[in-house]
Amino acid sequence: MKIFCVIGNPIEHSVSPLMHNAAYKAFGINANYTKILLEDSGKLRETLLKFEGANVTVPHKESAFSACDEILGIAKNIEAVNTIVKKNDKLIGFNTDAAGFFEAIKEFGKIENALILGAGGAAKAIAFILRQNGIEPAILNRSAERLEFFKQKGFKSFSWEYFAPEKYDIVINTTSAGLKDNALPAPEKILNQTLKNARFGFDAVYNKKTPFLKLCDEFGLKCKDGLDMLLYQAVFAFNIFFDNAYDETKIAQIMRKSLLNI
Ligand SMILES: NC(=O)c1ccc[n+]([C@@H]2O[C@H](COP(=O)([O-])OP(=O)(O)OC[C@H]3O[C@@H](n4cnc5c(N)ncnc54)[C@H](OP(=O)(O)O)[C@@H]3O)[C@@H](O)[C@H]2O)c1
Repeated sequence: MKIFCVIGNPIEHSVSPLMHNAAYKAFGINANYTKILLEDSGKLRETLLKFEGANVTVPHKESAFSACDEILGIAKNIEAVNTIVKKNDKLIGFNTDAAGFFEAIKEFGKIENALILGAGGAAKAIAFILRQNGIEPAILNRSAERLEFFKQKGFKSFSWEYFAPEKYDIVINTTSAGLKDNALPAPEKILNQTLKNARFGFDAVYNKKTPFLKLCDEFGLKCKDGLDMLLYQAVFAFNIFFDNAYDETKIAQIMRKSLLNI
């Protein structure tokens, strides 16, 4: 039996086992997907080597990038990895959060410009997949420190006090504001300025109407939370684990069904 896992801290809340195990069952694959709580990221590589493949979540995505023997695709730009597969005792790293996000916003249609709120791991993945698809996003973050990465990569980056807003088709919240509290991801004045000219709102937080999404509603924007991003990062990870042997639409259907009661 092949054993896969998701590694993070905390990890109890993760719905990845639900999605992957549902797909194993539906396709008749002899495999199991489990959760691993890891506190010390120094132990990440030895932990990863125990599994056929793994997903990695907060706070280990950057450490996973360093723990791999080889990095493929957009993860090289993002410098963070959420999917690892073991091949001949070598760890190969990928980032499927990026493609997961892009799949999730496909239903919005053509987007020409974007504003990303936040400058952490999710923001990096979203910034590079937008760039790869011809959309050059601006980044707005509470503090200046984390913007350094984006500045070095040539993205327009602002902290709140120096923000010079333009017109954005989509405003994307990648901060954890609103996840466990009622906070907005940026001062209301800034949000009002940008949302009044936008068409779409997206929040990486899933299964919750965050204060950000409520505000987007007030401006009449078409909105999505992060559930589809979560779903499609799992679909793409699954196909990496199994060498693209399964149909993506079918995997997505099975995994979506597994999330109905979370
Ligand atoms: N749906 C999905 O598939 C998916 C995938 C990945 C992540 N996510 C979600 O995305 C969120 C961010 O994840 P991450 O890995 O990017 O986290 P992270 O690396 O820790 O970054 C968090 C970011 O949020 C900002 N922030 C935190 N609290 C804030 C507040 N009260 N007001 C304004 N800004 C605040 C931080 O700003 P400072 O730099 O100023 O501290 C930082 O830029 C989480 O809620 C996570 O669950 C969802």
